[in-house]
Amino acid sequence: MTELAEYFEATIQRGDRVEPRDWMPDAYRKTLVRQIAQHAHSEIIGMQPEGAWISCAPSLRRKAILLAKVQDEAGHGLYLYSAAETLGTSRRELTDKLLAGKQKYSSIFNYPTPSYADVGTIGWLVDGAAICNQVPLCRTSFGPYGRAMIRICKEESFHQRQGYELLMTMMRGTDEQRAMVQESVNRFWWPALMMFGPPDDASPNTAQSMAWGIKRDTNDDLRQKFVDMSVPQAEALGVTLPDPDLKWNAERGSYDFGQPDWDEFWAVVKGDGPCNAERLEHRRKAHDDGAWVRGAAVAFARLEEEL
Ligand code: ACO
Repeated sequence: MTELAEYFEATIQRGDRVEPRDWMPDAYRKTLVRQIAQHAHSEIIGMQPEGAWISCAPSLRRKAILLAKVQDEAGHGLYLYSAAETLGTSRRELTDKLLAGKQKYSSIFNYPTPSYADVGTIGWLVDGAAICNQVPLCRTSFGPYGRAMIRICKEESFHQRQGYELLMTMMRGTDEQRAMVQESVNRFWWPALMMFGPPDDASPNTAQSMAWGIKRDTNDDLRQKFVDMSVPQAEALGVTLPDPDLKWNAERGSYDFGQPDWDEFWAVVKGDGPCNAERLEHRRKAHDDGAWVRGAAVAFARLEEEL
C-alpha cells in the first residue's frame, strides 16, 4: 500500500472527512459521483410530481408553501451537483448522463400524483424516508457531501412536517377528504419503502460503501427505522398502513412488516415505471427551454473576462 493509500485508510478508520484535494482511490471517487449524482438528479426530477399541483393547490397559503418547498428541492439539487463538481465532474456532464438515461434517480418519483392528498403524503412519507436515509449521510466520509446534507436535512424536516400538517388538516375534514388521504397512503406506502434500495443481500454496493464510510447504515436497517417511525405517526393521523403483516415484535423491539414487490422496484429502476418516460421527457424539455439562459450566462461571463 502506498503512503497516500495508507493515509486515506487511516482517515476513514478515524472517522474523519476526506476532502476534495486529498488522494482517494478511483473506485471511492466513482462511487461518490454515482451516489451524489443520483441524489442530485432525484432532487431535480422530484420537483415534478408535486410541482404539477402548485397552480391547483386550494388556497394562497397552500400554493405559497408548495412553491417554497419545490424551490427548496431545486436548491438541494444544486448543492449536490456542486458537491459532485469537487470530485472533478461537471454539472453539465451529469445532466447529459441523466438525459441520456445513463444515470439513475430515485424510483419514487416515477409514481403519479393524481390527488391533492399526494402532496401531503409525499411530504410525510417520501420526505420522511429521505430524512431517515439522509440524516446519517451528514456523517458520510466525503466532506462536501456531508456538509451539503446538513442543510438539506434541515429543510427536508420542514417538508416532512408540512406534509403531515396537510394530511392532519384533511383528516379533520370531511369523510371524502379522509378517504382521499387513505387512498393516497395506500399508493405511496410501498414505493416509499423501496426508496431505501434493494434488500441488503441484493445490494451490490452496500458493503463497500459502508467500509468507506460513504453509507453509514444498510438499506434494510434504514427501512426498519422508517417503519418504526411511521407506525405511530399513522396511528396519530388515523390512517391504516396497507400492510397486513405489520405488527409489533416485542422481542426485537421493532415492527415486523411485509416486503415490497421487488419485481416492481427493479422494473421502475430500469425505466419501466408508470411515469419514467414522462419525467425524463419533461426534464429534457425544461433543459432545452433553458438553453438561452445558459447561452446568455456564458456570453456574459466572456464579456466580463474581456473587460
Ligand atoms: N431508486 C432508484 N435506484 C435505486 C434505488 C431507488 N430507490 N435504490 C437503489 N437503486 C439502485 C442503486 O443506485 C444501484 O444502481 P447502480 O449501481 O447502477 O448505481 C442499484 O439500485 C443497487 O442498489 P444498492 O447497491 O443498494 O445501491 P446504493 O448502495 O447506492 O444504495 C441508496 C442506494 C440507498 C439509494 C443510496 O444510493 C443512497 O443513500 N443515496 C442517497 C440518497 C438519495 O439518493 N436519495 C434520493 C431520494 S430522496 C429525495 O430526493 C427527496
